[in-house]
Amino acid sequence: MTLILGIETSCDETSASIVKDGIEILSNVVKTQAIHQSFGGVVPDLSSREHVKFIYDIINESLKTAGIYLKEIDAVSSVNGPGLVGSLMIGLMTAKGISIRYKKPLITTNHVIGHIYGNLLTHKKLEFPMLSLVVSGGHTSLYIVDKEFNVKQIGQTRDDAAGEAFDKCAKMLSLPYPGGPSLEKAALGGNPKFHIFPRAHMPGFDFSFSGLKTSVLYYLREKSDDFKKNNIADISASIQSAIVRQLIAVTKRAFDEHEVKSVSIAGGVSANKQLRSEFEKTFTGKNAKVYVPEFILCTDNAALSAGYSYMKYMNNDFSDLSVNVYSRT
Ligand code: KG4
Ligand code: ZN
Repeated sequence: MTLILGIETSCDETSASIVKDGIEILSNVVKTQAIHQSFGGVVPDLSSREHVKFIYDIINESLKTAGIYLKEIDAVSSVNGPGLVGSLMIGLMTAKGISIRYKKPLITTNHVIGHIYGNLLTHKKLEFPMLSLVVSGGHTSLYIVDKEFNVKQIGQTRDDAAGEAFDKCAKMLSLPYPGGPSLEKAALGGNPKFHIFPRAHMPGFDFSFSGLKTSVLYYLREKSDDFKKNNIADISASIQSAIVRQLIAVTKRAFDEHEVKSVSIAGGVSANKQLRSEFEKTFTGKNAKVYVPEFILCTDNAALSAGYSYMKYMNNDFSDLSVNVYSRT
């Protein structure tokens, strides 16, 4: 039995998790920082400070929930990129401290691959090669993934990430932060009848959301506050549909042109119900397994790092104390 403590502090979630044998989540404690709400977006410096304040309590809670002591873990892991450098440092330094004090091997993980690993934590067994769409606040990319979770990127956004598009459009509609879940909620019962928001057609398997964002801005500029208030559900539903349509269309094109045994989604935006159902509808019956992660494993959480670390642990792929954080892949 292998027990790994995972730590995640790449953005505005402080999280610690214990995962057994890379598959069984014994605890997964996630604290989302509320401090950013009044700013309408994550403030990096505040994020680092919040991680410092809560990381030890979160780790203790995760150990307590799992019913183990720190000395019983086999390794400690931390996400070391991509993400906010100051925030990542808190998680990595904490993991290094535990590694030194308890003489445990240190493992560092990539945040994006962690998201994809959420599908293994959910479904327990996956078929490879797998086409995976990672959609978060920082990423919108398509990968071909092999059984060791080596990834080959075949497409990416040329500008904003899908989560960023959700967040920025929500802000324009004065919906609360974080924008993705707020816009999804506002779209409930709405009719996506405003076909004014363009879908970008990028070469290959790339995405683009900046045109959509600009068209929403221009569209709303012309409208009265009353109109916006009375049509908030239809406007939100139209924006959501435009984002989901592009994600599905590009993924479908990539799927048709690659020999894969499965197709999956991952990352914060994969919590979106419309995306989840359109994704399943599009790919079911297409001679490949279709994987959607469990809802709570979509947004940032440390089980993704603790789980993925098991693969590295089995391959003796450890980090030494000189390892650093990085902001971009
Ligand atoms: O993966 P994640 O938790 O953090 C990053 O790695 O960025 O993703 C956060 C992003 C945010 O942009 C958030 O608005 C979006 O995921 N998101 C959603 C939903 N839940 C989170 N977007 C649309 N619908 C949702 N239900
Ligand atoms: Zn993420």
